[in-house]
This record gives sequence, C-alpha cells and structure tokens, in this order.
Amino acid sequence: MTMVKMPDANGHTITMVKWQGEYFPPFPGTGSRMDKMKDLPMRDNDVLICSYPKSGTHWACEIARMLVSNKAENHHIEGLGKAPEYIDMSDQELVNSMKSPRVLFTHLPTKHLPKGVWEKKIKIIHLIRNPKDVAVSFSNFAQAFSVFEYKGNWDGFLTLQNSGHVPSGSWFRYMLDWWNSQKGNPNVLFITYEELSANDQKVVKKMAEFLNCTNTDEFYEEVARKCSFHSMKKSREDAMKIFFRKGQVGDWKNWFTVAQNEEFDKLFQEQMKEAPDLIPRIIFDHQPQAH
Ligand code: A3P
Repeated sequence: MTMVKMPDANGHTITMVKWQGEYFPPFPGTGSRMDKMKDLPMRDNDVLICSYPKSGTHWACEIARMLVSNKAENHHIEGLGKAPEYIDMSDQELVNSMKSPRVLFTHLPTKHLPKGVWEKKIKIIHLIRNPKDVAVSFSNFAQAFSVFEYKGNWDGFLTLQNSGHVPSGSWFRYMLDWWNSQKGNPNVLFITYEELSANDQKVVKKMAEFLNCTNTDEFYEEVARKCSFHSMKKSREDAMKIFFRKGQVGDWKNWFTVAQNEEFDKLFQEQMKEAPDLIPRIIFDHQPQAH
C-alpha cells in the first residue's frame, strides 16, 4: 500500500491510497483491511449496496435499511468516517458486530469483494448514476472533504476523473466490470439514480420485491418520503451533510463547458463500446433520451 499525491492538470494534488493498483480515500489501515477483505464473513440475509462513489450510495442504503427492518426511520451515523456498513473503510470487528439484517455498502470492483458474497449468493443492489453528475458530485466532495487535501477546482478535477486518477479509479472501468460480469445474475439488481429520482416509490417497491420484503403501498410511500433528499439531509448531523449537496439530475449542465462536454461525450462513446446494452440505462437528464 502506498500513499499517492496525484496532480491534476493544474498541478493541484489529491491524496489517495493505492493498493493493488486501486485508488482509495486516504484512510488509515486501508491496506491491511483490504488484505483481509476476501475473508470478511458474510451472512445469508446480508444486503450489499454496490456503487461507484457519488452515485447516491447513502440514499440506496437508507431505503434498503428501512425495507429490511420494516421501519421507516432515518438512520443515525456516529459521524464522518464512522459508518460500520462501509466495508471498504470499516474494521472487520465493527462489521462483524453489526446486528442482522445488515445493509452493507462498497465501492469495490467485483474481484475484490469478500468471497462469501458469491458463495452465499448475497443480494446485491447496484446503483448506477450518469458519469457527468458523478464527476460534478465527486469534484465538490473532493474539495469539501479535507482528507483528500485537494485544493483544485472543477476544471482540474475533471482531468483526474477522466483519467481515472480518483478513488475507485475510472467510472468506465468500474461500470464495465460490474455490468458485463453481473447483468444476468438474478442476485444483482441494477437500478439508476435517475429512475429513483423520477419515481422513487416505484423503485422502492422494486427493491422490496427483489429483497423479498414486500409491504404495503403506504409503507413504500413513507419510505420514499423519509428517504427524500431533504428528509435525509435534515436527519444527518452537520459533518455528514457533505454527502447531501444538491441531489439533482442534470446539475452537470451548470459545470461542464461546451468543450469539456464534447470531450466527455467522445470518451463515453469510446469506452462504452464494450457495453452497448448499458448505454440506454445511462440517463443524463430528467427526460430519458434515446442515445
Ligand atoms: P450531489 O453531490 O450531486 O448532490 P454517495 O452517497 O454515493 O456519496 O452520493 C452522494 C450524492 O447522492 C450527492 O449528489 C447527494 O446529494 C446525492 N443524494 C444523497 N441522498 C440523496 C437523496 N435522498 N435523494 C437524491 N440525491 C441524494
């Protein structure tokens, strides 16, 4: 494991940890935790939320937690970096001490997941968000969260994002791995941030059916309401509010210049050739557009 200070195009560096070629946020103990990740004990009724960072992970976790616990109550987290369910960053003892049913989350590629995930056929909800909004969200997060020591701006961050020099690496590489290896797996449900945003109640129901914890329409409505952006933001203490910035689809239009957008579209077309059937699932605006 090495500490990396990766410069953006303007010379501002982002601090990360590199382990087996993968970039992580620079939290202490990442290397030793990752060395043991394959052996993290999984339980039959665990639910795993998998996503590239800034895709709405906390949102999907909150919904899943309410569904499996049958309680529409917002979750309390002790503070920033103290979520035991974030298995990439949480010590195994802490994960092991969580009560069942557990909702865990990870940003790892498939090859680094605990082997119990596959052996026990753990239910996985995979959340996809369009990569332009992800880049904007990540840029703001990297500047706001002091661990990254990043003093750059949007223009600089986008160069890091496009080259995959950010925690979790390239969005494309991450998505192609997950989609191409898991799209037919009945234990993996792919949902998108944009469909959740357009019709949260419908997606909440879909998640409940997938997790075998169906309930009444009134309950789904309450879950959707309690998991709305404003309700979740309000329920979190101050330090956690950096995970709740704007919560919108299409904010990228306020950030990308015409040239940046053209360059990104070119990159998108090139990279996504390896998953043409994923392209229609990536929605860049409120109105689903044919690509
Ligand atoms: P923005 O920065 O675009 O606002 P993650 O949980 O994976 O870190 O993702 C964070 C992103 O999801 C942030 O995006 C955040 O605002 C958004 N988000 C979190 N909760 C949300 C909710 N309940 N509804 C809509 N967006 C939400």
